[in-house]
Amino acid sequence: SGFPYSLRNGLSKLGIPSEILDYLFKWDQANASPQIPEAKGQISAIRSEPFFIPLYRLYLAYGGIFRLTFGPKSFLIVSDPSIAKHILKDNSKAYSKGILAEILEFVMGKGLIPADGDVWRVRRRAIVPALHQKYVAAMISLFGQATDRLCKKLDAAASDGEDVEMESLFSRLTLDIIGKAVFNYDFDSLTNDAGIVEAVYTVLREAEDRSVAPIPFWEIPIWKNISPRQKKVSGALKLINGTLDDLIDICKRMVDEEELQFHEEYMNEQDPSILHFLLASGDDVSSKQLRDDLMTMLIAGHETSAAVLTWTFYLLSKEPIVLSKLQDEVDSVLGDRFPTIEDMKKLKYTNRVINESMRLYPQPPVLIRRSLEDDMLGKYPIKRGEDIFISVWNLHRSPNLWEDADKFNPERWPLDGPNPNETNQNFRYLPFGGGPRKCVGDMFASYETLVAVAMLVRRFNFEIALGAPPEHADPFKGPIVVQVQMTTGATIHTTEGLNMTVTRRLKPSVARVLEMPVLKVDVDPYVNLSNGD
Ligand code: HEM
Repeated sequence: SGFPYSLRNGLSKLGIPSEILDYLFKWDQANASPQIPEAKGQISAIRSEPFFIPLYRLYLAYGGIFRLTFGPKSFLIVSDPSIAKHILKDNSKAYSKGILAEILEFVMGKGLIPADGDVWRVRRRAIVPALHQKYVAAMISLFGQATDRLCKKLDAAASDGEDVEMESLFSRLTLDIIGKAVFNYDFDSLTNDAGIVEAVYTVLREAEDRSVAPIPFWEIPIWKNISPRQKKVSGALKLINGTLDDLIDICKRMVDEEELQFHEEYMNEQDPSILHFLLASGDDVSSKQLRDDLMTMLIAGHETSAAVLTWTFYLLSKEPIVLSKLQDEVDSVLGDRFPTIEDMKKLKYTNRVINESMRLYPQPPVLIRRSLEDDMLGKYPIKRGEDIFISVWNLHRSPNLWEDADKFNPERWPLDGPNPNETNQNFRYLPFGGGPRKCVGDMFASYETLVAVAMLVRRFNFEIALGAPPEHADPFKGPIVVQVQMTTGATIHTTEGLNMTVTRRLKPSVARVLEMPVLKVDVDPYVNLSNGD
């Protein structure tokens, strides 16, 4: 029955309205068209836990594509690698960001993540060149300095014997990094909480709440003006926008005064930021669009990296053998140095640990699309206007696609094999999405998390704090045992923070120095101590 569908598709692309095609192909629809499996009456489960968990159980029951209906609304849930590839890559022009763009409009406007069509094409073409090799290499020292500040903070906690909440510290680490990297602004959020930092968090929480809210309360006109919370959100947005406008002005002046010629790998050493590159490139863009893009990158590059670090340290705390293997690699590759670009390739096992962490905790756990035209998903015809969730969580944990899918096993990725990505894993592994809308910060983020993990485990051991909330087994007896509990907004958060006990490591080299006098006196009876050394 493939031919009638391709014929119908072809005719539809020629611009024949779908009503006429429906009529012409009615015989076929009635006789041969398979129906997408439909899951009904499952909504209650969705309110009580992160929504991707019931979607996982439904996937096991209904398969790689099914329809989820809530009253008048319905969504297609996709958990099949070849359908995901079709939507994200092979026929990506037939899909938009749909609901995601609607939810994020208040903060990102027409920035690169929500934008579609021509706006997206033009902005993507302007922004991608800014993240060139030389830029990413320069960022490595920024990652090192920022992580070093976090290490100093942890040093103090380790001395005082105080537990630390790592999730919020990772969020601050990646905020400090992305502010410098995108618009040369030092949030210094590891030491400073007020003003702009608080505003960024207000806006982020709002974006996350809106993305899981059952009804769009913020669209109610009067609500916007009287709700204290919505007022706080507009105040925060105003502060951030004002700051961004100031930074754009400052940067414009710098660009006007500098002698540097613009070229492909252009970078101002004093200010290597993406904003500086864009302005120097003569990027012809309204200041509203520029602000939208900066805001988009601020958010895209902040919570995602923080969530990857949070779940990596959670997983490491469960697997001390992996942690000590990791520490061995970091000791031998880095010693006490700051990481450099050359080290990125050498920290192979560290990279595998992060690959595996992003498999088990993909950020975000679902990708959102809307069909712009009629299409075929696998053997099923779909109409334009369908809202689609591609569950990366399901792809990454499918028992059909992975051996011991729920096990944290960095060894599943051979050290001498290629770095896993969506292409060499045939779309069963999508840590940064795929196709034309793939993450523009993938290399940036990979190095950022590598540097942070390497520098932290070299200096400290991390354990779940004894006073941490008790662990819960999955109350729905599904195949996933959730340890520290999860909650979602755009990324996967912990419900009560990642409370850890941090202790300073005694590295072998350090330990040997400390033990030296002891060895001389006690252990070796053949050394004659009275005869000098
Ligand atoms: C898009 C993940 C870090 C900027 C995406 C997408 C994913 C993703 C899955 C695709 C979304 C979709 O198809 O709907 C991640 C993860 C990160 C990370 C896991 C950290 C570990 C960053 C950083 C930046 C960034 C550091 C900025 C420097 C973007 C942008 C897009 C994007 C602008 C939209 C691209 C487009 O639509 O053309 N990211 N990201 N991301 N990411 Fe990232």
